[in-house]
Amino acid sequence: MPEVTLTTLQKLKQSGEKFAVVTSYDATFTDAACEAGIEVILVGDSLGMVLQGHDSTLPVSVDDMTYHTRCVKRGNRGALIMTDLPFMAYATVEQALASSGQLMQAGAHMVKLEGGHWLCDTVTRLTERGVPVCAHLGLTPQTVNVLGGYKVQGRQEHQARQLRADAIALEQAGAACLLLECVPSELAAEITQSVKIPVIGIGAGGSTDAQVLVMHDLLGLSLSGRSPKFVKNFLLGQNSITDAIAAYVRAVKDGSFPGPEHGFSA
Ligand code: KIV
Repeated sequence: MPEVTLTTLQKLKQSGEKFAVVTSYDATFTDAACEAGIEVILVGDSLGMVLQGHDSTLPVSVDDMTYHTRCVKRGNRGALIMTDLPFMAYATVEQALASSGQLMQAGAHMVKLEGGHWLCDTVTRLTERGVPVCAHLGLTPQTVNVLGGYKVQGRQEHQARQLRADAIALEQAGAACLLLECVPSELAAEITQSVKIPVIGIGAGGSTDAQVLVMHDLLGLSLSGRSPKFVKNFLLGQNSITDAIAAYVRAVKDGSFPGPEHGFSA
């Protein structure tokens, strides 16, 4: 696969071709994802739950993310590697610069952080220093204790207004892409139209420029035996993990995933 860069993602948005993102935390799954045609690998702090067995992403450290980014880099064959800045690793601009420096030196091509307009200064400073940023809006798992649980965000008009404004502010601050998690499909469609940068969705309907799934969810694995509404098991009917990831890529590109049943209404 030719190397995927931010320019590739920007061109895909402009041409209307959707792209597929999946989490990976090690070399072997990254190799399989590349073989399957995935454009972006997310080294997500979801590893705190799916690998480490915690009940949230809060215990994950920058060193954990660094270790897994190094593993992913060794298996990568041309995908863009996006790594999460974990909880409290970007509470100040200085912390954000130091944490991101460590992750970029480990092999990340960009970092992802969770939050809205209050992160604009951080996004600008990181971008100026050579760190592209994806801003994660909507259900932001690192603030689960403030949100009062893993709930759909943006159903109330004042929340929707704030999300629209945050998306624009973060784009203006220099964010290279946005990720919307668990927001009503119509709102996600509106935000995707309102910005020039690519918008990746999870539980945000089929109108975003790209989709992301946690690898374990895509393969039908869950610790509790219960999957969120926006998840589909792509291993069903396939002969291998690589085939399952390739089926996900195809479904994202042809628009058959996510279907209306995977989204949320206002
Ligand atoms: O950490 C992660 O895997 C994520 C996705 C759920 C978007 O942020």
